[in-house]
Amino acid sequence: MHVHRFEKLWFGASLVLIVAFIGTIVYGAVGPGVAMVGDDGGTIDPDVVANGNYERADNFRAPGVYESSDGDGVDVYIVARQYLFDPGTAEPIEVPRGAEVTFHVTAADVTHGFNLAGTNVNTMVIPGQVATFDVTFEETGEYGIVCHEYCGSGHHTMEGQLHVVA
Ligand code: CUA
Repeated sequence: MHVHRFEKLWFGASLVLIVAFIGTIVYGAVGPGVAMVGDDGGTIDPDVVANGNYERADNFRAPGVYESSDGDGVDVYIVARQYLFDPGTAEPIEVPRGAEVTFHVTAADVTHGFNLAGTNVNTMVIPGQVATFDVTFEETGEYGIVCHEYCGSGHHTMEGQLHVVA
């Protein structure tokens, strides 16, 4: 049977597309050294965040990095606000390589985004909600933190740094 040259070409191209499509899904699911993002952190009174009365919240602490209660990981509490991440913008967030890092992220004012550039760590940050997700970084390195939700005139300047250290 004679198969036309262009028919072969397009058959090949469609195979490439299918493989690339599956590859994209797999990459999104298992990205480089990070876990999938979950969102089961519960709600928080936005006034608590706006006024910094974190002792009134049972699922959020003052922004910063804490050793986890079971001792083999860290908890990172981050507040996003126009137009910074606290911590992250004024100084980098430092987390240890190889440990389970549990992020707890909420917003003080409007909806923001939280994306670790180059990874699949990506969540919306909504006032009144705590986004919680676990990440284990297998390698040391530096990641940019990017706000990917339009949050006002300074949106494009809203960024931070996360350093994974040995
Ligand atoms: Cu915060 Cu865009």
